[in-house]
Amino acid sequence: MTKKPVIAIDGFSSTGKSSISKIIAKRLGLIHMDTGALYRGITFYAIQNCANTDKTIDIKKLISDLPKINLEFQNIDGELRLFLNGKNIDKEIRFPQVSDNVSQVAKEAEVRNYLLTTQRDIAKKGGVIMDGRDIGTVVLPDADYKFFMTASQDERARRRFLELELAGEKTDIETVKQNLISRDKIDSEREVSPLKQADDAILIDNTSINKEETIELILSYIKKF
Ligand code: DC
Repeated sequence: MTKKPVIAIDGFSSTGKSSISKIIAKRLGLIHMDTGALYRGITFYAIQNCANTDKTIDIKKLISDLPKINLEFQNIDGELRLFLNGKNIDKEIRFPQVSDNVSQVAKEAEVRNYLLTTQRDIAKKGGVIMDGRDIGTVVLPDADYKFFMTASQDERARRRFLELELAGEKTDIETVKQNLISRDKIDSEREVSPLKQADDAILIDNTSINKEETIELILSYIKKF
């Protein structure tokens, strides 16, 4: 049997990267790592410990606190669960306050460097599908396969709204869309590791195809191993 592949999936938020990567990982017997969860974990810490009086994040304090932050994934029943200083935070990192602040945190070079080792260590053994914004360009430039996912802003807003509604969050579609637009802008325009398609990544636009069709499309590029 040939070595299990390393697969990088980057792209815009709410294109289904994480849920699709999770299913592909199960089907191919790979580990799935949602790198956005790491940035969300740091943001959750910052909201609790590094907030200014106006509720914005004190980035200086956050950077000086980085050595105190122990963020790690633990493999529980085949799924990676995120722990912040020993406490599981899978639910907390999806809070709207985290979504609203995460792009600000993710644009800091110190934060990105801090998380680089965690991400690369997981990929060392192979057999991993990692989703994020800079996996194919910066974190794993030698990945065996690279995909870049996109979809129209309206469709992405609709999907995120339904997700939030299902989770019991009270919001409206326009607010969700504005949040997406502002995150896309910060993610794509930041100086360090901006969101962009790697030259050798395959573009997957799933505006008008469903989740299963997207999965099949991606799988069609991956050779048997
Ligand atoms: O995929 P997500 O929406 O959970 O990501 C949360 C934020 O983290 C998003 O604003 C972009 C940032 N991010 C990043 O900059 N680099 C990554 N590899 C993953 C996420």
